[in-house]
Amino acid sequence: MYTFDSQYEKYQSLFEEYAKRYAQTLQTKPKVLGESMVYSLLLGGKRVRPVLALATADILGVEKEEILPFALAIEMIHTYSLIHDDLPAMDNDDFRRGKPSNHKVFGEANAILAGDGLLNTAYAVCFEQCLKGEKFVYASKFLSDCAGVNGMIAGQSADMYFSSENRAFSEEDLAYIYAHKTGKLLLAPVAIASILADHKCFSALETFGKLLGDLFQITDDILDEVGDFGKLGKSIGKDKEENKLTAVRVFGLETACVNADLCAADCHAVLEGVDGDTAFLHDLVDFVRNRAH
Ligand code: IPE
Ligand code: IPE
Ligand code: MG
Ligand code: MG
Ligand code: MG
Repeated sequence: MYTFDSQYEKYQSLFEEYAKRYAQTLQTKPKVLGESMVYSLLLGGKRVRPVLALATADILGVEKEEILPFALAIEMIHTYSLIHDDLPAMDNDDFRRGKPSNHKVFGEANAILAGDGLLNTAYAVCFEQCLKGEKFVYASKFLSDCAGVNGMIAGQSADMYFSSENRAFSEEDLAYIYAHKTGKLLLAPVAIASILADHKCFSALETFGKLLGDLFQITDDILDEVGDFGKLGKSIGKDKEENKLTAVRVFGLETACVNADLCAADCHAVLEGVDGDTAFLHDLVDFVRNRAH
């Protein structure tokens, strides 16, 4: 019988095994480079992006061995973005995934290089897939666009820009930060699964991925305000401290929660346009809305 929790765990452990096996093949000199990469990659984390990729692939009939390398590449890029995000020059966070941040264990220089290493390794994984044919090239290109200077990096840059004192901002600026720093890497898993299924349901899934990204970051902003350090595994109250442009700052906590509910409802509605059994994705929307970690 289907339950969301057991299905989520199934996808999670499938990914975990695959990531662990890949990590064992990493040989670096000096050793610390690989060690610091693997420290953050295998530290835990919810694995929402790989789970999304695997679940969407299942709906569309894409084989596990086709989607798993992309799930790994996405999670590597996500992990690199977290390592750099935590650096003193960015958000200055000492904890990540319930453990000391990468730079707290390995030092800043090694943390920067671990991030660089994960990013480059993600593309190495993609290039290997590209040898299989055209749709794998399109999938890889999609990921590089999502991660790049018009994608996640642009969002991180805007996040930093608007955290400076006395910067004028609008709701559109917040929407830009959301769509890029978070939205792009939540869009990538569902869009890539669709690309591998010859673009089946691409338009509906693209809209879904973008909306889920918005929902994900609204709840991240809310949890920074009202979350629990023990459950979250990262410091709380940091957004205020770092003067971040967040949903809580722009709308207030109450309205941010209402917006999260509206966004979740939009996610459910757009899923109606996706052919196949979308029960897990519907439940994933509620998981993202109601999460405490
Ligand atoms: C945190 O992402 C960074 C954001 C984009 C908000 P996650 O909440 O998915 O972090 P992990 O991977 O579970 O640690
Ligand atoms: C981080 O956003 C987004 C990326 C790393 C791309 P946040 O700075 O809000 O994430 P947390 O709260 O540190 O996890
Ligand atoms: Mg940040
Ligand atoms: Mg941060
Ligand atoms: Mg945050």
